Amino acid sequence: MEKSLVLLKPEALRRNLVGKLIERLERAGLIVEELKMSQFDREVIAELYKEHKDKSFFDDIVSHMSENKIVAIVIKSEGNTIRKIRKLIGSTDPIEAAPGTIRGDFAFKMEPDNLIHASDSQEAAKRELKLFF
Ligand code: CDP
Ligand code: MG
Repeated sequence: MEKSLVLLKPEALRRNLVGKLIERLERAGLIVEELKMSQFDREVIAELYKEHKDKSFFDDIVSHMSENKIVAIVIKSEGNTIRKIRKLIGSTDPIEAAPGTIRGDFAFKMEPDNLIHASDSQEAAKRELKLFF
């Protein structure tokens, strides 16, 4: 089975959307294999977002994600898990995310976060799963 990392970001917890967001993934045929709610070290989040280390938003997203609890999920399916989840979550900017996608339906702004993270390739998934599990 192809596995991926999903993170429910602090705003999903603050708005009590944990159940609803997991339901969206499960309804689409994805299987929750492991799950933990925790606060993760700044180093772990910085490593997750290392491709963005020179961007203006890097410090803000790393601080926000490491100073609050998040939910980390190992998700899997028989099919193309990674492509499926990326379609389900929608575009990075919630304004651009299509209705029917998680970000399109539940998020309005990028700040403080856009509710959910999902690995964007098989290599990324392998790397990211090791960081959190
Ligand atoms: O999460 P995704 O792969 O869709 O987007 P990304 O381009 O890899 O950016 C990672 C995360 O940084 C986003 O999900 C946002 O939470 C944050 N970000 C931001 O706050 N402002 C931006 N202009 C771009 C990204
Ligand atoms: Mg990304």
